[in-house]
Amino acid sequence: MSRPPAPDATARVSVCFVCLGNICRSPTAEAVFRALLAREGLASHVLVDSAGTADYHVGEPPDARSRAAARARGIRVEGLGRQFRATDFARFDHVIAMDGENERALLALAPGPAERRKVARLRRFESEPDHLDVPDPYYGGSGGFDRVLDICEAGCEGLLARLRADHGLP
Ligand code: 4NP
Repeated sequence: MSRPPAPDATARVSVCFVCLGNICRSPTAEAVFRALLAREGLASHVLVDSAGTADYHVGEPPDARSRAAARARGIRVEGLGRQFRATDFARFDHVIAMDGENERALLALAPGPAERRKVARLRRFESEPDHLDVPDPYYGGSGGFDRVLDICEAGCEGLLARLRADHGLP
């Protein structure tokens, strides 16, 4: 989302979540991960952002249905939609796609192999995913937004465990 990540000298790791529109899934993942980091006392250690592969919703706030579903869990989904650009690869250690289509778009945009290695799907961090996509809730019912939250919570737990192991986070 468009709020630029605060420059934080102590942040050791940077993560950008990416979906199609940057108004439903990736801002939800961003908010869930921020809440988890805050709970773990790690907010200043990890820089978190989100973006979309498409430009349909640039400058728009997160979908009201995403915000409402997250609010019911005490999580604030904030920011304004922005499009992921090739130059973003230099700013993030990990670029986390919500589904296979997002992952393919990111791999096509990546300037080289080092950048392609930064790309992973969120659900790869779940212990036993029943599927590797975070389903797009945009055209579905309200249950889809709760499901996105459940998946983001499980994926973000796994992602944090990986960051702890790979980057020496406390
Ligand atoms: P998101 O959801 O990729 O999770 O933000 C979508 C938002 C908008 C559209 C599709 C998916 N759209 O087609 O406008």
